[in-house]
Amino acid sequence: VLDLDFVLSLLSRWLHILAAITAVGGTIFARLALLPALPSLPEGHRKTLHDAIRGRWSKAVMGAIAFLLMSGLYNFIRIAGRLPADLKPLYHPLFGAKFVLALIIFFIASALVGKSTAFERFRANARFWLTLNLVLAVLLVCISGLMRMLRDRPAQPIRPVNSVSAVSVWPIVPQLPLATSDHPVTLD
Ligand code: HEM
Repeated sequence: VLDLDFVLSLLSRWLHILAAITAVGGTIFARLALLPALPSLPEGHRKTLHDAIRGRWSKAVMGAIAFLLMSGLYNFIRIAGRLPADLKPLYHPLFGAKFVLALIIFFIASALVGKSTAFERFRANARFWLTLNLVLAVLLVCISGLMRMLRDRPAQPIRPVNSVSAVSVWPIVPQLPLATSDHPVTLD
């Protein structure tokens, strides 16, 4: 079981999940705890604290973005190659939506955590952009979970129309006549 493909996939999944919980957890903390707590500080201290947090947190955000992109692309290339044909029309659009959502989230997060004066207006509206990023991140995690569940589902057998499988018959078996006068059932 411990071949190179297995080890790389496991590493990539670990990285992806760790980076995702860092980025999404940080967003939830910033919006639900840090932002509402800032007004309890005197005006001057707010800026000092904010600057001290920004410098450190921006490194975590940039790292998370890099790891999410690398591990996500690796996962996708690996998964796409062995996806059952009947799943592709659903899985690929979900991945497309996820990828676009991720880029939007990365953009908003970078603008909020960066120093560039071009994004000063973003930071002035931090409450709105953090709320939006939080909602988008929750949606993205839901889409990711759905993608995973779809792949975990057992393959749907394609069977000829006039054949019946044991599985599709068993719930109606008790309603079928077990014996007719022509074919009596005997228990000997
Ligand atoms: C904010 C950014 C992101 C978050 C929060 C996130 C989160 C997640 C989560 C929670 C999973 C499910 C892991 C599991 O059930 O094992 C996942 C899987 C995955 N992610 Fe991401 N992800 C992000 C960005 C990306 C990006 C940028 C890509 C592609 C470049 C990507 C590609 C994938 C792929 C291919 C899977 C596997 C889905 C499957 O099992 O079918 N993700 N992601």
